[in-house]
Amino acid sequence: MEPTQGIMYTVDIQEVPPVHRTRHKTILKDVRALDAADVDNRPVNLIFLDAHLVEPQMAMFDRLDEAGLISDAIVLAFHDTHLWPYPAADWAVKTPEGFMHRSAERDMVTIFKQRGWDAFMLHPTFGAMKAGGLAFRHGMVVMQRYRELKTSWE
Ligand SMILES: C[S@@+](CC[C@H](N)C(=O)[O-])C[C@H]1O[C@@H](n2cnc3c(N)ncnc32)[C@H](O)[C@@H]1O
Repeated sequence: MEPTQGIMYTVDIQEVPPVHRTRHKTILKDVRALDAADVDNRPVNLIFLDAHLVEPQMAMFDRLDEAGLISDAIVLAFHDTHLWPYPAADWAVKTPEGFMHRSAERDMVTIFKQRGWDAFMLHPTFGAMKAGGLAFRHGMVVMQRYRELKTSWE
């Protein structure tokens, strides 16, 4: 018996092998063109954005939102949002705060923040990375719309 009826959908322009027979659907498509039918018109609870593209991923989010599939409780997760303490790849961009690995997901976090979302950043300081024996962390950001934590109701 399955514990939940949840389904994970992966959209990618490259073939992705499913990790589960019934609960993982892989969609071979440009994320920009993903629509409600692709996710079986089911409400979406979590979106992990990791294609390193701003406009196509924002278009996907806005299309699902217009279709009424994005609830107030949805969680957005972004990867590669942190800076590196040193240029661990030749495409890293030097900034006054460290070396930027990717810009797209950082820019998307800024867009959602401007739209009023809250962000929790899993970005250890460079000092903490060193103390923990870590060369670097790519970083993650988790976002959600704040909902009032009421303690009384009229
Ligand atoms: C950093 S990888 C993500 C890997 C994935 N999150 C995982 O953990 O396996 C970025 C992926 O985005 C895909 N991608 C790039 N442009 C895309 C687009 N326009 N639509 C959908 N997927 C795209 C690439 O094919 C690649 O597999």
